[in-house]
Amino acid sequence: VKTNLRPHIKTHKTPILAHKQIQAGAIGICCAKLGEAEVMVAGGIKDILIANQIVGDQKMSRLVGLAHHCNIMIAVDDPKNVADISSAAQASGAIVRMLVEVNVGMNRCGVEPGEPTLALVREIEKSPNLEFAGLMGYEGHLVFCADYQERAAKTKKAMQLLTDTVELVESADIPVEIVSAAGTGTYNITAEIPRITEIQAGSYIFMDGRYRSILKDFDCALSLLTTVISRPNRNRLVVDAGMKSITNEFGPPEIIGIQGTKPVRLSEEHGTVYVEGDATQLRPGDKVDLLPSHGDTTINLHNHYFAVRDGILEAVWEIAGRGKFR
Ligand SMILES: Cc1ncc(COP(=O)(O)O)c(C=O)c1O
Repeated sequence: VKTNLRPHIKTHKTPILAHKQIQAGAIGICCAKLGEAEVMVAGGIKDILIANQIVGDQKMSRLVGLAHHCNIMIAVDDPKNVADISSAAQASGAIVRMLVEVNVGMNRCGVEPGEPTLALVREIEKSPNLEFAGLMGYEGHLVFCADYQERAAKTKKAMQLLTDTVELVESADIPVEIVSAAGTGTYNITAEIPRITEIQAGSYIFMDGRYRSILKDFDCALSLLTTVISRPNRNRLVVDAGMKSITNEFGPPEIIGIQGTKPVRLSEEHGTVYVEGDATQLRPGDKVDLLPSHGDTTINLHNHYFAVRDGILEAVWEIAGRGKFR
C-alpha cells in the first residue's frame, strides 16, 4: 500500500458505509443492537430497523429516546415486551414501530407463523404509542446452504411460511406494510418473492471466506494486512495476527494472492502458516493480506477501515459501530 502519494488522507468518523448504502438506494439501515442504532442516529441516518428484541427498562428508555430522533422499528416476539415498550413509549410521548418476528425455521427468536403471529399483531394494534409496521422472518439457517438449488428451494419454502402469515394478517383487515427477510446467502432468492418488501443482507458489502465459498456475486473487499514476523524454517512462517485480530469460528483465515500457502493456524497473537513454492520466499517484514472466514466478528475487533483503491490508501474510516453490542 502506497501512502505517500496522497498527503491528505481523510479520516471519517461517521458511519460512512451506511451513508454509502443509502446513497446507492437503500431506504434505511438494519442494525442488530440498540448501541449500533445510536451510532447510526448520531451519524445522521434517519430510517433504522433493529432486527432484534429490545428488553429491559434501560434499553427501552434508550429506544424511546431514539424514537424522537429517527424513524425506528424493532422486532418483537412477546406480548409482555410489547406492553412494556408501549408503556415506555407513552411515558416519553414517542411512537415505536414494530415488526413481529416470525420463526421461519431458524428456531432462534420469533413467534410461530399463522395464528400465534396474528395474536401478537393484535396486541400491538391495541397498544398505545405503538405502530404495527409488518412482519420479519430471517432464514438464517439457510444462508450458508452450499448448493444453490437446494438453498433456493428451502428458502422459498421458509418464505412461504412468512407470506402465508402476511395473508392471514391482512385477511383480518390489518395492513402489512413491511415484510423483511434475507441475508447475503439468500438475497437474490428472497428478493424475488413478490410479497417481500425489504432485505436485511449485510455481509455482501465486504464478503468473507465462508460466503465466498458459496456465492460468487460479490468480490471480497475485506482483508487484514499483517507482517511476517518469523521464518523458523523453510516451510513455516508466522504473521503478527492471531485470534485477537481475526476470528476463527467459521474456519481459519487464508493468505490472499500468494501461491503455496495453507490456511492460517491462529493462537492469540500469532498466525502460523505452512508454505511451499513461491511462498517460501517470504521474509520477516514482508506484508501479507489475510482473508477472514467471518467478516462480522473480525470487523468488531478493529477501530478503523483503511480504504485502498488500486494500491493507494484513500481514506481511513472509523468503525463507528465497533463494540456497540449493548
Ligand atoms: C436477523 C438478521 N438479519 C440479517 C442478517 C444479515 O445477514 P448476512 O450477514 O448474511 O448478510 C443477520 C446476520 O446475522 C441477522 O441475524
